Amino acid sequence: MSELDHSGLAQRVLTRVVGRVREIELVVAALAADRHVLLEGPPGTGKSTLLRAVAHELGLGFEFVEGNAELTPARLVGHFDPARVLSDGYDPDVFVDGPLVTAMRDGSLLYVEEINRIPEETLNVLITVMSERELHVPRLGRVAASPGFRLVAAMNPFDAIGTARISSAVYDRVCRLSVDYQDAPDEASIVRTALPDASVDDVWLRRVVEVVRRTRTHPDVRIGSSVRGAIDTVAVATTLSKMRGTSVDDQAVGLDAALVALSGRLRLREGCSRSAEVIVTELWNEVFAEPDPAAGESDGEGKAHAPTGASKGR
Ligand SMILES: Nc1ncnc2c1ncn2[C@@H]1O[C@H](COP(=O)(O)OP(=O)(O)OP(=O)(O)O)[C@@H](O)[C@H]1O
Ligand SMILES: [Mg+2]
Repeated sequence: MSELDHSGLAQRVLTRVVGRVREIELVVAALAADRHVLLEGPPGTGKSTLLRAVAHELGLGFEFVEGNAELTPARLVGHFDPARVLSDGYDPDVFVDGPLVTAMRDGSLLYVEEINRIPEETLNVLITVMSERELHVPRLGRVAASPGFRLVAAMNPFDAIGTARISSAVYDRVCRLSVDYQDAPDEASIVRTALPDASVDDVWLRRVVEVVRRTRTHPDVRIGSSVRGAIDTVAVATTLSKMRGTSVDDQAVGLDAALVALSGRLRLREGCSRSAEVIVTELWNEVFAEPDPAAGESDGEGKAHAPTGASKGR
């Protein structure tokens, strides 16, 4: 892959991902340099979308693993089929490769979502593989990583489960990229991209995105909604308006759609006496009583935002 035109590749990834120019460039550069990568950012910030697009454009195999407490070393590495062991013994043919061994043999990417949720012993296997590029499996022997094998992991910094456990041993073996929420115009484009058939007005859609964005800074809310909440609000409003025989921008349709799409996504602060429904309603009414959010934000040119969604001065 060292012969690939990496700047052309970054360009092609951009056709599949809204914004994220800098992030794409950095991920492509880190992978091209044969490094392991950790993407750290809140849910729904496009980490998986970005990595899938990069892997697709690189033409790399992609082993996807959902990180959770049940991801034992055996599930990650592989195991000897017990029934066949009885008849054939511990023959290498009897070994069922797990995603790690598959990725190592094929020289592909191993993508671990929510790496902070995996058990300590599984994490230790990954730590070893990251630096040694080989693995010793009892009764199977040594598995060497083919060129191209890299670990790409994602995690959510808000997640209370084991985030602190991601020790310096992991951080010392990866290149880390912090991924934050994108700007409002990019989030509106993401909703459009996700719902190409939704015939909704631009101004209305910008307002929905603005409601969702305000859930992230509301004083009673610990974790607000990601852009997934905006996508769902628009999708539900579209079907609901058809069922009710009214237009999507009917205030009651939009608010009901927002309540069903957003209320479960808000994590309220301890001791907050108000419900998520009350907060969503308040934000909805506030935003829809204001002028178009895009009009007041800049010089009104509509191009005032860098198309990149590049993260701000971190
Ligand atoms: N930059 C983007 N371009 C296109 N679609 C995007 C982008 N960011 C987010 N999305 C859309 O938003 C949704 C969530 O994105 P994605 O699954 O990539 O987030 P994530 O960061 O992996 O979330 P999680 O931490 O929950 O795994 C998807 O439907 C995806 O299509
Ligand atoms: Mg993801």
